[in-house]
Amino acid sequence: MLVNFKEMMHEAKQKKYAVPQFNINNLEWTKYILEECQKLNIPVILGVSEGAVRYMGGYHIVVALVESLIKDLRITIPVCLHLDHGTFEGCFKAVDAGFSSVMIDASREELNKNIEITKKVVEYAHPKGVSVEAEIGHIGGVEDDISGKLFYARVDECKTLYNETNIDSIAPALGSVHGPYKGEPKLDFKTMREIDEALEIPLVLHGGSGIPDYQIKEAISCGIAKINVNTDLQIVWSKAVREFLNSDSKVYDPRKIIGSGENAIKTKIEELVYIFGTKSMK
Ligand code: 13P
Repeated sequence: MLVNFKEMMHEAKQKKYAVPQFNINNLEWTKYILEECQKLNIPVILGVSEGAVRYMGGYHIVVALVESLIKDLRITIPVCLHLDHGTFEGCFKAVDAGFSSVMIDASREELNKNIEITKKVVEYAHPKGVSVEAEIGHIGGVEDDISGKLFYARVDECKTLYNETNIDSIAPALGSVHGPYKGEPKLDFKTMREIDEALEIPLVLHGGSGIPDYQIKEAISCGIAKINVNTDLQIVWSKAVREFLNSDSKVYDPRKIIGSGENAIKTKIEELVYIFGTKSMK
């Protein structure tokens, strides 16, 4: 059964670690992520962008795929299926199809409009037990349909958005970007801490790929309880597949080709969740 992120993120915030959100693209990625997180015995949030929803065929197939894998692979860890950077329409479709969580991304709008849109999504999602994340400021870089310049979030605006909408988590843009970083990221930890102190809900860090370990740890100490990772898994998977194809010019079985990236994805997940503290060092 799918769960929303409330309990897993609440626990993460209390115990000072972050739950990973790994974005999925297809059956294989979903399977590898579920298998690895089950092996490590950690909760996981499966993030799906609207681009990935379209790629996989639609909201219902995504729900059916994840629920079926949970059954067939006998997955017992908490799994949250979360729409990443949802539009207003996308959030309603995801809730109707059975997603257990959505992110409404109205961060391009003025604060009042962001509040109005986010509030409507919360009012629709909460009675169905679906958790809601919202964004404020604007996370830079490119991810599927989402691209743009970075705008830093402000504490007073985060407070107003939270008070007016009853969201369950907030992603304040504080220097992280989607995709690879040019140089070292400059996260605004001071504002992050102030937002954490001003709000009762956990904070989300987008653009989790390529942030140095010491900054990840600092971010968690400032209230981050969920870290989104997409690019990191894509990079290690493509590298492994490219090497495999270069090493065997005759291979044509898609299971061998796609599957040649399995270990790379699983190894990266293990490495990251130790850094996030989801899995503590033995
Ligand atoms: P990266 O692709 O930089 O890891 O960011 C993922 C993300 O924030 C998804 O919302």
